[in-house]
Amino acid sequence: MLGDMGKVGDVLAKRWWQWALVGAVVVFLLIQLVPYRVSNPPVVNEPTWDSPQTRALAVTACYDCHSNESKPLWFEKIAPISWWINNHVEEGRSALNFSEWGTSKQGEEAREAAETVREGEMPPSNYTWLGLHAAANLTAKQRQQLADGLRATIAQSK
Ligand code: HEC
Repeated sequence: MLGDMGKVGDVLAKRWWQWALVGAVVVFLLIQLVPYRVSNPPVVNEPTWDSPQTRALAVTACYDCHSNESKPLWFEKIAPISWWINNHVEEGRSALNFSEWGTSKQGEEAREAAETVREGEMPPSNYTWLGLHAAANLTAKQRQQLADGLRATIAQSK
């Protein structure tokens, strides 16, 4: 009898890592149910762009974090990465949201948009790490075009 108990103990001891694995998988599946991931509210109002080219550059380099037309990559929809990405997008939108232009939700900092591009502060460098969002890795010329375009767009929207 005691010997049997010992064997059960041995089996459990050997299998602990299997239970840990099952537990980890269950936790992973459960956290997918948390409704905290990037969603796109309706577009309220876009700026009057100075040119279609400025808009195209902004869509490429800024819209994932500064619009209601964010396009998360497939793995960015999976928790817990999705939590981090959503938090990031919420922060981005509250600073500048091209889809809620001229509304109270539009941050004061939006006026600095051209500056952030010119200084290479935006888009954030980690956005294009590992070859992701390669098109947002603007050339010097595109950077100049976008900065000029944003300046003109913001100037005419006042
Ligand atoms: C990967 C997400 C991401 C992208 C892409 C991105 N931004 Fe941002 N941006 C943020 C976040 C998050 C904040 C707020 C926190 C901060 O300042 O870092 C922000 C803040 C800003 C601000 C407020 C001022 C400041 O420096 O904090 C401006 C202006 C801005 N971004 C402009 C842009 C423009 C223009 C583009 C496109 C060229 C762009 N961003 C691309 C995430 C992003």
